[in-house]
Amino acid sequence: MKETTQTALRASAVLAVVFGLCATGLTAADAKSNPIKDAMSKYHKAPKGTDPACKKAGAGQASKEELTGMVAAYKAMCAAKPPQGDQAKWVKLCTELVNATTALQKGEAGAADKYKAAVNCKACHDEFKPTAKK
Ligand code: HEC
Repeated sequence: MKETTQTALRASAVLAVVFGLCATGLTAADAKSNPIKDAMSKYHKAPKGTDPACKKAGAGQASKEELTGMVAAYKAMCAAKPPQGDQAKWVKLCTELVNATTALQKGEAGAADKYKAAVNCKACHDEFKPTAKK
């Protein structure tokens, strides 16, 4: 009984820390570094003639290093504030990206399809990317 209470207390302490980190991420997004643009240019874009990491990931061909970097980049996106759109929905979309990429790291069945669904450029851009500055 006591044991359970302690576990619950510890769990809520961990949650508090996680929420604290998220709040820090939100303020950091106002500074000049933009984790969203970083993630886009690093993993969703590639020089002509080469495949971006997101394309390789969707084909189940991303390297371990790429996947590790992508998980970190997507987590940073989760903590950032998009230029527009609903914050709760944003976190949900970014979390799906993190989960799908983690599934790829673990080599789970269907992970590539899950990733392709999560990395839907247009669905996310329509709501969260300002059209004015393309
Ligand atoms: C979960 C949401 C989300 C997904 C999925 C997504 N993007 Fe983005 N992307 C954004 C947001 C938000 C911006 C605008 C960032 C800003 O202006 O601060 C953006 C901006 C960009 C930019 C411009 C970056 C810059 O430096 O201005 C490129 C290029 C881009 N995305 C490519 C892609 C491609 C290609 C895909 C699909 C493979 C994709 N994105 C999927 C949210 C997303």
